[in-house]
Amino acid sequence: MTSSAPVFLVKDGALSWPEVAPMRERIYPPEKLINTPMHGIEWAHAQRRVLLYVDDILCAVAGIHEREVLCNGQKLRVTGIGGVMTKPELQGQGYGKQVMLHLMTFLRNEARCAFGLLFCEDHNVGFYSKLGWLLFEGDMVVEQHGKTGPFSFRNVMVLPLNESARISGDIDLCGLPW
Ligand SMILES: CC(C)(COP(=O)(O)OP(=O)(O)OC[C@H]1O[C@@H](n2cnc3c(N)ncnc32)[C@H](O)[C@@H]1OP(=O)(O)O)[C@@H](O)C(=O)NCCC(=O)NCCS
Repeated sequence: MTSSAPVFLVKDGALSWPEVAPMRERIYPPEKLINTPMHGIEWAHAQRRVLLYVDDILCAVAGIHEREVLCNGQKLRVTGIGGVMTKPELQGQGYGKQVMLHLMTFLRNEARCAFGLLFCEDHNVGFYSKLGWLLFEGDMVVEQHGKTGPFSFRNVMVLPLNESARISGDIDLCGLPW
């Protein structure tokens, strides 16, 4: 049996959470997170999501955040990408790439933000590099538990959208990471 073409939908973050939560729970089981650097980190909730379905089955997802941040002290609107996931049994079949490519085109057409910004672990840098994302080598501060401070446990990657992306200097995310 051949599967149908993928269908992409952009949905509200809170409304789409119930259909994304089971995938997130499988990929990041809470009992395993306790022993990782991710334990206790406060994350922002996605405002919107791009969801990829095949035959009405959710295969991959990526969250969208929009925020006014400070780049070298200057206010700039950026798009944050977080919660990028492919259903475990479907990983390595191109769904993650397709959802990201769709999202990147969507954001460029929307033309609301200067550049994209995401956080990722070392083993995923290659995945995003292949899609044109660049490593940010400057300093990043975020809010955690009501305080602002450096956030260095993950790589920061940036993508030009409507302006060139900043790859150095300092960025204050003016809120929680995503
Ligand atoms: C990371 C993730 C979203 C990738 O999705 P996927 O559907 O498995 O990836 P794809 O099959 O679309 O791969 C696209 C390309 O990236 C490559 N790739 C995939 N994962 C990679 C990785 N971790 N490192 C380097 N390259 C990678 C593939 O080989 C493929 O290359 P090609 O285009 O040359 O063939 C998926 O593995 C996942 O859900 N992981 C667990 C959650 C997670 O870590 N999310 C990211 C949070 S930052």
